[in-house]
Amino acid sequence: MPPAPSSLFVCRHCGARTRQFFGRCAGCGSWNSLEEQPVRAGGQGRRPAPGGAAGAPAPRRSEAIDAVGERLLQRLSSGYPELDRVLGGGLVPGSLVLLGGDPGIGKSTLLLQSARSLARRAPVLYVSAEESAQQVKLRWSRLGPLSDRDAAAQAGAADLQLLAETDLDRVLEELEALRPAVAVIDSIQALHDAELSGAPGSVAQVRECAAALARLAKRQDTAMLLVGHVTKEGMLAGPKVLEHLVDVVLTFEGDRFASHRLLRAVKNRYGATHELGVFEMRDRGLAEVSNPSELFLGGGVASPGTATIVACEGTRPLVVELQALVSPTSYATPRRTATGIGTNRLHQILAVLEKHLGLPLSRFDCYLAVAGGLEVEEPAADLGVAAAVVASHRDLTLPAGTVLVGELGLGGQLRPVGQMELRLQEAARLGFVRAVVPPGCGGAAATLPGPLRLEEAGHVAEALVMALGEDLQK
Ligand code: TYD
Ligand code: MG
Repeated sequence: MPPAPSSLFVCRHCGARTRQFFGRCAGCGSWNSLEEQPVRAGGQGRRPAPGGAAGAPAPRRSEAIDAVGERLLQRLSSGYPELDRVLGGGLVPGSLVLLGGDPGIGKSTLLLQSARSLARRAPVLYVSAEESAQQVKLRWSRLGPLSDRDAAAQAGAADLQLLAETDLDRVLEELEALRPAVAVIDSIQALHDAELSGAPGSVAQVRECAAALARLAKRQDTAMLLVGHVTKEGMLAGPKVLEHLVDVVLTFEGDRFASHRLLRAVKNRYGATHELGVFEMRDRGLAEVSNPSELFLGGGVASPGTATIVACEGTRPLVVELQALVSPTSYATPRRTATGIGTNRLHQILAVLEKHLGLPLSRFDCYLAVAGGLEVEEPAADLGVAAAVVASHRDLTLPAGTVLVGELGLGGQLRPVGQMELRLQEAARLGFVRAVVPPGCGGAAATLPGPLRLEEAGHVAEALVMALGEDLQK
């Protein structure tokens, strides 16, 4: 029998384990991602394995589903509707929420503000493993009341305890002693389990710390908000394992040069994913932006090469401006650059326009940008992209007050997209008067809050003629 291995190697990215060191992970193919993890003598040591039921009040016998209490469904409101919506309607007791994002994007600020607001309703423990208590207090004093409603509520006492600690055992002890309804851990990478070797932030440490917190969260119904760092590649640092372990994964993103921040759910066991919350970083903390379409409308001056679309993030419609610049190329291969939209998508739309409208786009450079730094992934933006490109190519300006929504098929046909009613309502609410849409959207018109005229087109050529008012096929 071979001797028991004294260490294991675990991939930082995918969590794959091997007994031997390789330069390249056999699981996900990334280089230099294996980290050594010691194997505890006698199996699992002090704590049971992650996922094990020990410690949790697991029922010994099965129960009828109707008899299972619905206590868990009573969600705690964070006091910020933007955050609550992304969480699926508030924090679920006993759940683990992981908040990822680039350094300096505002994770600590968001959680401290939420903690402040939550602490008026329930006891909260804020564990700062990265900053000292004084630093947290400085930030705390900097956060002003963000609205009158907030100022009034702030007068009430807040039950918020602060602990500046990196040792996992001390954190667990404090959590057990206080039994708070909500605990914030900033950050999971800075926590350290003295029983394990390895620096804080290594795979083994992150995994064990998160697993211990998860067991405690389920046992005493404490909702945990964990901050997680993002690696250079934009992945949550620590293994993917962390994402499997938590109930909700939120990402906080934004442009360094802009003040707005987008909060998204990428995984949510208790709600829909791809919900979007929009915040703005001010000098006194984060403020909610309840009318984000205004952020993504590029100032309202119509110019050649701009088109307005209605994108949907989860259930949230956003009116967004697209800008295209098409100019004769001086390269052998024309340049195609897209910001906020996939380059492959742009290539495909250009190919459709070239084929079905006869535009000689292969002799033109084409740049495309989404205003406000938003990423638009859905194909509903296709028609808008096509209109912006053609408008720039022909130096035409789309009439003011026009939005375009529709997916382009490879044959040039316009396909309907989901949530049309929501999108049109948002456009009407913002005062748009004309929407060029795929066929079959007429039903949505009945419920519109404003005078939005629908123009249906079955083919991209027809839609662009409608939108730009010229026979483009000539
Ligand atoms: P922080 O929450 O520390 O980011 P993270 O925890 O994600 O690393 O946010 C830090 C940035 O936010 C910093 O660049 C300063 C800015 N900021 C403001 O602009 N206004 C504020 O009121 C606060 C508290 C921070
Ligand atoms: Mg921080």
